[in-house]
Amino acid sequence: MAINQSTAAAVNSVRGPASEPVNLTVNGSGHAIELEPRVSLLDALREHLDLTGTKKGCDQGTCGACTVWMDGRRVLSCLTMAYSCEGHEVTTIEGVAQDGELHPMQQAFVDHDAFQCGFCTPGQIMSAIALLREGNAGTDEEIAEHMSGNLCRCAAYPNIHAAIREVRDADDGGR
Ligand code: FES
Ligand code: FES
Repeated sequence: MAINQSTAAAVNSVRGPASEPVNLTVNGSGHAIELEPRVSLLDALREHLDLTGTKKGCDQGTCGACTVWMDGRRVLSCLTMAYSCEGHEVTTIEGVAQDGELHPMQQAFVDHDAFQCGFCTPGQIMSAIALLREGNAGTDEEIAEHMSGNLCRCAAYPNIHAAIREVRDADDGGR
């Protein structure tokens, strides 16, 4: 039996839109993959690039667990369409250590015991490094305010803030 155009359109609408090619640059490496247009950056990272360091907490922009950088600025990857990242440089927690050495902020989190379950930690660290770059860590109040988008259900906030203060006050201010 021949399938008419309206039947084909109905079938496609049930299946969802077809995948399209997209080029993503993540942690300095280019990736040519195929994605449906509705795929978030978070799902592209975790499901298509096997970069599972970035965590899915709420998947609706309220917890900060999925924080990554786009061109050095922090973004919530669950609210960012993967397609919109073409032509931009995405950095995830996997791209923060250099030459096998932890970033000073990662080391400070370890030294200050700034996590318990660790689920929020990648997002906290991505935000914390960006916070210093943004120049918004001058006081405890500023740190609390500008880290408020990153929730920690284990309530490790005092230790997280101590780690940020240590890197802020280091000679090189983190790198
Ligand atoms: Fe993106 Fe919670 S998973 S803000
Ligand atoms: Fe468990 Fe933050 S360390 S949610």
